[in-house]
Amino acid sequence: MKIEGLILVAKSAGETLLKYFRRERIPHKEKSGKSDLVTEADLAAQEKITEELARLHPDTPVIGEEGKREHEEGSYFLVDPLDGTLNFFHGIPYFSVSIALMEGREPIAGVVHAPALNETFYAVRGGGAYFNGEKLNLSSDIQLPNAIAVTGWPYDKRFIQWTEETLLLMQSKVQEVRIMGSAALETCYVAAGFIDVYWEVGLYPWDLAAGAIILKEAGGVVVDVEGDSFTLSSGRIVACSNCSICEEVLSILKKVGTTGFMNTNK
Ligand code: IPD
Ligand code: CA
Ligand code: CA
Repeated sequence: MKIEGLILVAKSAGETLLKYFRRERIPHKEKSGKSDLVTEADLAAQEKITEELARLHPDTPVIGEEGKREHEEGSYFLVDPLDGTLNFFHGIPYFSVSIALMEGREPIAGVVHAPALNETFYAVRGGGAYFNGEKLNLSSDIQLPNAIAVTGWPYDKRFIQWTEETLLLMQSKVQEVRIMGSAALETCYVAAGFIDVYWEVGLYPWDLAAGAIILKEAGGVVVDVEGDSFTLSSGRIVACSNCSICEEVLSILKKVGTTGFMNTNK
């Protein structure tokens, strides 16, 4: 597999999305709730990616949020054709296409492309991470009081209270908390040092796979919200630009209490 091929596929899906972006009315419907939408653009981008990957790698199955969803063993692609649909729908340019090549439960390559921002992140296991062609080398010594921390609103209402409580507590410890709206892009922004901390629960493997390998390859830290090893199937992430900030974040999250009940997003 050549990463250049994956980048081209992500960019071509990005072009599909831009044909719909800021258009008068994008046909859409609600999924799990009022903020969880699927638009015609999500579906068109999924179709484009599935077709192009099948042409490049006919023997590698494609699992996607808006496509075939069954878990695969061995090698497969894991795709979120539009991460940040709500931003996209309202005309906010912060959204991305996310494609990971998986080996079992581990991403071994990933691309996250934000077409309206012209930003492309990618990584291959053992080969470093890149942002618009430049190698990322995260060497942040930022301290929590100067940090920008980002979280997200989970669609699953069971997770809202925990998110609100952790947000309020984090807000008192960092420079500022932001909610930006594309999990894949947030993880890459930590990799690039644009944000320092990202935590969220209630996510799906396709939100996290490509961003996680990009962050690891850039030298960032990715763990579970309870400090255990990060797993895609948990849907929970703490991504940080250095180890000491990560320890502080974990001790803040611990104060809010157990999150064990949330580990259900398989
Ligand atoms: C969503 C985005 C958002 C996060 C949600 C995700 P979608 O993905 O990543 O930032 O807060 O939990 O589901 O639905 O736009 O692909
Ligand atoms: Ca998503
Ligand atoms: Ca999506």
